[in-house]
Amino acid sequence: MQTAATMQDDKILTVEHLSMRFGGLVAVNDLGFSARRGEITALIGPNGAGKTTVFNCITGFYKPTQGMITIRRSNGQQLLLERMPDFKITADAKVARTFQNIRLFAGMTVLENLLVAQHNKLMKASGFTVLGLLGIGKYRAASAESIEFAKHWLERAGLIERADDPAGDLPYGAQRRLEIARAMCTEPELLCLDEPAAGLNPRESSALNDLLLGIKAQGASIMLIEHDMSVVMQISDHVVVLDYGVKISDGTPEHVKNDPKVIAAYLGVDDEAEIDVPQVLSDVLKVEAVSGKKISRTRKPAAGETPADKTARKPATGEGTKK
Ligand SMILES: Nc1ncnc2c1ncn2[C@@H]1O[C@H](COP(=O)(O)OP(=O)(O)OP(=O)(O)O)[C@@H](O)[C@H]1O
Ligand SMILES: [Mg+2]
Repeated sequence: MQTAATMQDDKILTVEHLSMRFGGLVAVNDLGFSARRGEITALIGPNGAGKTTVFNCITGFYKPTQGMITIRRSNGQQLLLERMPDFKITADAKVARTFQNIRLFAGMTVLENLLVAQHNKLMKASGFTVLGLLGIGKYRAASAESIEFAKHWLERAGLIERADDPAGDLPYGAQRRLEIARAMCTEPELLCLDEPAAGLNPRESSALNDLLLGIKAQGASIMLIEHDMSVVMQISDHVVVLDYGVKISDGTPEHVKNDPKVIAAYLGVDDEAEIDVPQVLSDVLKVEAVSGKKISRTRKPAAGETPADKTARKPATGEGTKK
């Protein structure tokens, strides 16, 4: 049995000296943090802080300019993600992700979306032969198992009634849950979610919280990028705050919520300014919740950027282009 001390030390993900430059723009600058196994670790920060870029580095969409990203699987195997292609990160490192802008196969049914996610398992069972695909050997059993597994995740995500509908016909909140169910069909040990609550109404947001807490309860670890602080504060065990690619705070939700550097980053004011931190944070979040818009701030150059680089930082576009 694990003691409290070993659990504290049980890191599933360790990021060290991670930097990502796009030309002269430093999107992530010498970042270090870790995520513990079985916990929900939130990565927060204002627009353009570099959160999605960190996910893109973890999941192999970008090759970092510098740094090391280590995953330690439950079987003890350690893998360096920055050295692996993205498909191996899903298959071997057992890391799955969802995207800031939903990416489902809109014309396929809800169930089909979950079966596609199990393609690797099915191809292995087919022995990569046509006879295998025709149902000889292990394929037939694997195919039945995949359908059962997909149904299990449809139940968990509250989507079983919609199994045969085109994914594109689902309401927005349901599409978000389908993306998570699809990621879970790859049986990840680490699930990375990029703004899963974006655009959800309070009821959908609460259903999402339940789904994520259920995933955590069964032992998976979650990395969560989120602007909705009601989600972050209610379900995260650990919060890392980024601003202009640099880590400015790291700790429990309570610690981060009361950290003046975090408030200053969200408001774009000096660290030294005298402000009532919890009050201001609560006001900012209320404005965001009502307007549906994130608070943006004035641009400060990141360390290592030349003045000319300032113009290079365009409004964040979401995932960017794959490198
Ligand atoms: N492929 C790219 N090419 C050039 N610049 C990029 C690329 N991807 C991201 N950036 C820039 O890097 C910075 C960080 O972007 P990123 O998308 O990681 O921010 P974010 O914290 O996810 O923001 P948001 O909360 O708005 O999603 C931004 O200035 C963005 O314009
Ligand atoms: Mg983003």
